[in-house]
Amino acid sequence: MDYDLTQEQTMIRNVIRDFSEGEVAPGAEERDKTGQFPIEVFDKMAKLELMGLPFPEKYGGGGGDSISFAIVVEELSRSCASTGITYSAHISLGGAPLHLFGTEKQKQMYLVPLCRGESLGAFGLTEPGAGSDAGGTRTSAVKKGTQWLINGSKCFITNASYARHLCLTAVTDKSKGTKGISAFIVPTNTKGFSVLSNYEKLGLHASNTTELVLEDVVVPEENLLGKENEGFKQFMKTLDGGRIGIGAMAVGIAQAAFEKSLHYAKKRTQFGNAISKFQAIQFKLADMAMEIENARNMVYRVAWLKDRGRKFTKEAAMAKLYASEVAMKVCSQAIQIHGGYGYMRDYQVERLFRDARLLEIGEGTSEVLRMVIAREIGC
Ligand code: CAA
Repeated sequence: MDYDLTQEQTMIRNVIRDFSEGEVAPGAEERDKTGQFPIEVFDKMAKLELMGLPFPEKYGGGGGDSISFAIVVEELSRSCASTGITYSAHISLGGAPLHLFGTEKQKQMYLVPLCRGESLGAFGLTEPGAGSDAGGTRTSAVKKGTQWLINGSKCFITNASYARHLCLTAVTDKSKGTKGISAFIVPTNTKGFSVLSNYEKLGLHASNTTELVLEDVVVPEENLLGKENEGFKQFMKTLDGGRIGIGAMAVGIAQAAFEKSLHYAKKRTQFGNAISKFQAIQFKLADMAMEIENARNMVYRVAWLKDRGRKFTKEAAMAKLYASEVAMKVCSQAIQIHGGYGYMRDYQVERLFRDARLLEIGEGTSEVLRMVIAREIGC
């Protein structure tokens, strides 16, 4: 057993921490207020060759591992969770299904531009009537000669306004339930395809969250991703990896809330002392530090399992569930330590609190994750 980061992982941590503190953190508050999408950050990350980090070099990727991916998401989220989720979805939802299930030709056509940062990655699973019950998909795809005709809609889709193409699920055999769902690659400029970005959200204001509308969208048969009727399983496998990203986001947000609280507690004087001298505050900070450490270890371990080709469904669900609940708890305590100031925007912990809330919902609610874990432990 070795708990040290490798030389390469350490190098990536140093590069991304510098980048995140220098280029991402300064605009985070403003972006939270305006909702402006940080496209320039991703252009710079493309120059640093981070946009394809865990994918093979032959597709323009960095050949890195999943621990490095988690480190990048964590460090971005520590400065700006909107930037963190954009990157996490780009890699783990946008690039991963192409990498896992695409043909060589599909990888050249669709994965390479993602790795170069020419397009952001996205995937479409959730629908108005199919959230936790992802198998309840209504979007349909009907084979017409050598083409597929797709109709339906998707909601809560990250990054689609900045994606040139994305993978989405559609029912190809109504009689077969989850075994009648297939995945397709759909270029976003296809006739009949529209991306709407009208949501007003609690947090993650600078991330791009969209609805997709597909009206008689036609794609050639070679745009089927993987095998027909295996789309549900492919997307479930993709989500296992996505949950590493959400867990890493949670660690980054929690770390930021902890650091701000420690800093504040040392400077804030009440009853003639810095409040960090009071045991009531010390215990809060001690619990925060301990739980963040636990969450980080869980996230890194599941990334380690993934890199070794082991099954990691249960561990991914556990890490995402635990880390997201820790993030909420830590952010709530961070506001408590800041008192009235914590409730105000200036101290930033209220932004972290709002941003963290999504993590208990997106890519599997806490309830769905408990279901997944229960099944995996043989209930
Ligand atoms: N890996 C591989 N195969 C899997 C799998 C996994 N992780 N999970 C399920 N499967 C397989 C099952 O083994 C089963 O196959 P067999 O019958 O051959 O054994 C098949 O898929 C169907 O599985 P279930 O019977 O478990 O299906 P279910 O309908 O009971 O659903 C569920 C299970 C866990 C609740 C699933 O629907 C789920 O994960 N729901 C949550 C979806 C989710 O996280 N959505 C958020 C998406 S994020 C998004 O879309 C927006 C964005 O941009 C962020």
